[in-house]
Formats: sequence, C-alpha cells, structure tokens
Amino acid sequence: MARIPDAFIDELLARTDIVDVVNARVPLKKQGREFSARCPFHDERSPSFTVSPTKQFYHCFGCGAHGTAISFLMEYDRLEFLDAVDELARHAGLEVPRDTRQRNVNPDTEPLLKAMQASQQYFRAQLAASDLARTYLHGRGLDADIIERYGIGYAPEGYSGLRDALGTDARRMQLLEKAGLFSRNDRGNVYDKFRNRVMFPIHDRRGRVIAFGGRVIDPEDAPKYLNSPETPLFHKGRELYGLWQVRQALAKIERLIVTEGYMDVVALAQHGVPDAVATLGTATTPEHAELLFRNAPDVYFCFDGDSAGRRAAVRAMESVLPRMRDGRQAFFLFLPDGEDPDSLVRAEGADGFNARLRDAVPLSRFFFDTHASDVNLSTLDGKARLAERVRPLLAQIPDGAFGDLMRARLTELTGVGASNAPPQTHVPTQRATPRARGSAAPRRSLVRAVIALLLQQPALGLMATPPFAFSRLQQPGVPLLLQLLDAIHERPDINTGALLEQFRDHPAAAALQTLASQSLPGDENVWTLEFRDALAGLQRQAIQQRIDQLQLRLKQLDDDEKLELRRLLATRL
Ligand code: UTP
Ligand code: MN
Repeated sequence: MARIPDAFIDELLARTDIVDVVNARVPLKKQGREFSARCPFHDERSPSFTVSPTKQFYHCFGCGAHGTAISFLMEYDRLEFLDAVDELARHAGLEVPRDTRQRNVNPDTEPLLKAMQASQQYFRAQLAASDLARTYLHGRGLDADIIERYGIGYAPEGYSGLRDALGTDARRMQLLEKAGLFSRNDRGNVYDKFRNRVMFPIHDRRGRVIAFGGRVIDPEDAPKYLNSPETPLFHKGRELYGLWQVRQALAKIERLIVTEGYMDVVALAQHGVPDAVATLGTATTPEHAELLFRNAPDVYFCFDGDSAGRRAAVRAMESVLPRMRDGRQAFFLFLPDGEDPDSLVRAEGADGFNARLRDAVPLSRFFFDTHASDVNLSTLDGKARLAERVRPLLAQIPDGAFGDLMRARLTELTGVGASNAPPQTHVPTQRATPRARGSAAPRRSLVRAVIALLLQQPALGLMATPPFAFSRLQQPGVPLLLQLLDAIHERPDINTGALLEQFRDHPAAAALQTLASQSLPGDENVWTLEFRDALAGLQRQAIQQRIDQLQLRLKQLDDDEKLELRRLLATRL
C-alpha cells in the first residue's frame, strides 16, 4: 500500500485545529486551557472528554479513548485512515499527494469493482427469474425485503450463464477471471465458477461488492459453500460479512455479534437482530478484531459448543486481548449442540437470542477458565504454571482498568502477581536478585520520563543537540527516543498530535499515545529543568555503561580503547 509522506501529514495537522474538528461533531466547552465535553465514545453524565489545543490531542479520563484529529475522524466518523486524511485535507484546502491515493482510486481495482457490480446485477436478475431459488430462500424464512437488503442473488445452472451475459469481449473475460468468477479446466477452457448457487455478495466498507459466497441449492452438490478466491479486491482475513449492512441499519452501533455463517447473519437480521456479522470461513484474525472494535465497543463471539468451537474461541480471544483498551468488552457465547444462530433465532426469536447473549461468558472469565482448565490450582505447582502461562498474554493488554482487573484476578487465583518474575513460592534465583533488578528499573524509567516530557511539549527536544551523547546507551526505549528527537529536529514547531501521527504504525504507538494522554504536573519551566536533568542522567548512564563494557575486557583493549576508557573515567570525576 502506498504511504502518505510524513511531511504531508505534518503539514495537514499544522493547518488543522483538532478543536474545530471535534467541535463540529461534539460541542465543546472551554475549561481553562482545554476544552471538554461528555465523551462521545462512552455513556456518561459528567464530561471527562478533553481536547487540548496545545497538544492537538484528545483524551477521555473515563474510557481512555485518545488520539489526534485523524484518529478522531477514524473513531467518530468510522473512517479508514486514508479517508480521514482526505476529509481533513478537503477542509484545509490541501491536496493529498497523488501517488499516495492509489488505495482509494486505484486504476487496477476500479475495473474489477465494475465487473463485480455487473455480476451482482446479473445474479439478482437471475434470482428474480428463478422460482427454484426464491422458493429455497423463502423456505429458509427470508422475505423479499431482507433479500434486497443483503443483495442476495442466484447463479443459474449451466457452465456459461455469467460468461455469456458479461464476457462479451476478451478484456471483460480477463476481468471476470481476475475477479474470481471463473474456473479453468485442464484444457484451458474457462467456465462459470458459481453454478446453481444462492449468491451472497460481500461488501467492503464503502458498500462496494468485492466478493461472493455461494451456497448450494441441491444438497447433492459440494462444497456447501463456495467463496470467491483471494483477489486484489478481497482478502478474507480482513473482511466481515454483513458489516456494511449493520452500518447502514444503525446510526450508533452498540454491539456487534460475530457468527460463522452467511445464513446466520441474514437470519438474525430477518428476525430483528440487525447487528450480526460473520467471518468468512476463517478464524478471527487480529485485523478482524481491530475492525470489530473500531465499529462497536461491545463484541459478542458465537461459537459451536464443541471442541472445534472452543479452539476457534481461543483464537478469537488471542486476537482481541491486545485491543482491550478501556471501554471495550468482549463476550463468548457457546451454542447448544447442533444449533447455530440461524436455527436459534428462528426457534426463539430476537428476545430469546438476546437473552442468550446477556448470559454470554465475559472475556475475563473465558480467559482464566481456558488457561486454568488443565492445572490444579490447589497446588503451588499448578498456581506457578498458570501464572507463567498467562503472564505474556496479560502483558499484551493495553494499560487500563481491564488489564488491572485481569492481573488482580491472576493474583487472586495464584497469589502471584503478573509482573514479578519468579512465583513467590520459589527461592529467588541469581538472575532476579534485588540488586540486579534495582539497577535496571530506574534506568528504564528515566528514558520513559524523557519521552513523556517530549510528548508533553515536543519543543523541549530542541534543547538536546545532535549527536546525542546518550545515543549508544543500550537500553529499551533509547532507539525510540532518538527517533522522536530526530522528528522534532526535522520539524521544530511540530505539535504532539503531529508527532504521534508519525509513529502511528510504530510498535510503540499505543504506549506513546498513553504517555501523551497524561497531564504532567508543573509548567514549562519545571519541565525544562526536568528534561535537562533527565538528559544529563541518561548521559551519565551511557558513560557508565561504556566504562563497564570496556572494563569487562580490560586485558584485551587496544590503544584507542584504553585512551577512551581513561577519558571516560575522567569525565565521571
Ligand atoms: P456451516 O456448515 O455451519 O453452514 O458453515 P451454515 O452457516 O449453518 O449454513 P446453512 O445454514 O447450512 O446454509 C458456516 C460457514 O463456514 C463457511 C461459510 O462461510 C459458512 O457460512 N463454509 C462452510 C465454507 O466456506 N465452505 C463450506 O463448505 C462450508
Ligand atoms: Mn445453518
């Protein structure tokens, strides 16, 4: 995917005021140096949502939502990154650099989308003309309105219905094949891939048809469901069937229900549960999880109650854990043997299905049930094993109340905290003596302190002049600090929001945003002094570390290194 140059994002955010962007959607009140409102991302009585004009950043103390003007549009207007950039650029009167817009208007995908659209029309016309197919759908309880809403169609019997209708020249034949609508036999002959099947179109986030799922009508045919192959338009791990319809049906999406099948989604909508989506014959990927939570705060996963269903649920859990920031909730509903959401909602109606959802297992419980299922928590060994197993998983949860609760629960179950290395029931090992840990911890927090100050007021970074004395300090966070300083020196007037945008795809993006959300005590003068002290501290650490390294192999030092060591020892005096 083409990238938008950082310089353009900087420019865009320099010409955008987040206060205007938010205020146009959520009326803000001025309060001291900041603006506030009732948070649009969770329900609350008193305002804990604040927008800082100096940082160009918003933050909610209630639910932890935070971000830049771009993030706000992504969350509030539910836009994709590039669309949010487009929207801001339009307001600022800027043109997004042309070659980076490829993903939005792509000369390669445009004709493919047209071919899909034409195929969709063809399948719908075929449904209108087929008593057999309409009888099948009505037999499954679907009425004309829901068939229309989901754009369901029919691919007729025979090998060349679509081909004859749309493949009128070589170029069109090529496009339809690239769109995944044809198969090819050994002799190189091309024929319709979908035959005598009910066709479920899969829409992208803008409502364009990008793929199909086809269900057999004749139970003798196989496979029961046939999906479009991966094409330039369609990557099944990234799409959710039915999301477009949910977004059309609901102004505010309170929850999303994740099912396994096309028919589940459509049947739920038919019976008055309009907020279901389906993964397309795959496990729930991290991309799915991201997409789900970008659209709704609560996500309910439905699975078969059998062992395959449990395994799928564990995969889904792993995908959502790193995304469980405050305000988000995930639940797991295990269905009775032989039932699926389609059969349940038909038997029990929307009320019955919603009642089941109310009893769904919360993520926290499912998490500990899963990981503790084969350990004996009445023994020390069992407790230690559980703690060891879940610690890396808990570490993936973003800072916030949910993570705190999960760690508290671990302590409750095992007597062992989530962060201290050995379980307390063991003798401390050499590696974890208090001295060793005591010396590591404060160092890391010094880097963290410097980064926090930079996010509070990026201009502080100008006090540090390259080459930075601490640049070879080997410590977590130092490379990130250097990158931040580079960005600030490149654009001395950069604000916090624009700085964060440069790190949007960085592994530390979430940590940076959390740090930026804090309001550090003190004022500019205090921060300046703190920043200078912290830099000096880092420099001392860099010198000490180098001295330690050199002294460790004192006997093998060459002349240059001996000189270096003497100089370093002198600076320390
Ligand atoms: P199921 O076999 O559970 O079917 O597949 P279903 O949803 O209950 O369908 P109906 O009610 O018999 O019509 C669930 C999902 O798994 C994928 C499809 O996405 C389907 O909706 N699947 C299933 C396939 O991709 N291929 C298959 O052959 C079967
Ligand atoms: Mn079914």
